[in-house]
Amino acid sequence: MKIGFIGAGKMAQAIISGLDKSKFSIQISGRDLSKTQQTAATLGVTAASDHTNLIADAELVILAVKPHVIPDILSAYTITQPIISIAAGLTLDNLAEMTSNTQPLIRVMPNINATIKKSTTGIVRNAYVSDETFKAALAIFESIGSVHEIAEKDFGTFTALAGSSPAYIYMFIDAMSRAGVLHGMPKDVSTQIVAETLAASAEMLLKSGENPWTLVDNVSSPGGTTISGVVSLEQHQFVATVIDAITATIDKNNAMTK
Ligand SMILES: NC(=O)c1ccc[n+]([C@@H]2O[C@H](COP(=O)([O-])OP(=O)(O)OC[C@H]3O[C@@H](n4cnc5c(N)ncnc54)[C@H](OP(=O)(O)O)[C@@H]3O)[C@@H](O)[C@H]2O)c1
Repeated sequence: MKIGFIGAGKMAQAIISGLDKSKFSIQISGRDLSKTQQTAATLGVTAASDHTNLIADAELVILAVKPHVIPDILSAYTITQPIISIAAGLTLDNLAEMTSNTQPLIRVMPNINATIKKSTTGIVRNAYVSDETFKAALAIFESIGSVHEIAEKDFGTFTALAGSSPAYIYMFIDAMSRAGVLHGMPKDVSTQIVAETLAASAEMLLKSGENPWTLVDNVSSPGGTTISGVVSLEQHQFVATVIDAITATIDKNNAMTK
């Protein structure tokens, strides 16, 4: 399948580096041709001379520019092929208003972990996208991690849980490793220990299929050390604080999405 990327920044490059070049023929078109040519050479793909040529050649166009650039592109160029937008905050309706009422449109929300091919990606399509095109879109994003087909009404929640949450998880890791420093451990050692434990605990949760609280109970011996920390976290409203942070993220996303 021939895919054209308009915009070849961080996220486009992360997606392209995960794609099997024997299955997908990829062209990119950025803002500046010489920069695009350099990026294309690094990624082992083709630089289109301009957006018009890229669109003429593509079977599927991926818009990988910042959200505020998308209206300019969709008003300057007519794209009749299916479009995938990865722009945060732009709904299928927003995109349809800028194209046509029958334009096949797919909205995708990858996350920063695409950089290491471990994105947790949300995807939704409109009624004009064929099963074959949607299958191709799933294959593209499965090559950089896991893909969840979600209702568009849940995109704000998905964005909070998968898009913003890495920041909160890094804060949690940093807080724990700072506690290690407080108690005499070097910061780099402490951070490594916490990050490894977090990654293994997440893997354990996913592999076991257990409820997280069951795993908390499994680690909490009666009268032991862990339950003291669990009670301390709850005395400081750990669960409610995290829920409030996710709600604030969703509220902000909803306020920005018209
Ligand atoms: N990064 C993330 O974690 C993440 C996660 C989910 C979704 N997204 C979405 O992914 C999209 C891209 O984000 P990004 O992080 O990859 O941003 P980025 O690194 O800034 O990439 C955007 C690219 O678009 C290029 N560009 C600007 N105007 C253009 C035009 N008129 N035609 C073609 N290319 C143009 C920019 O070129 P110059 O650098 O030369 O200006 C830049 O290379 C955004 O819509 C964002 O919401 C990003």
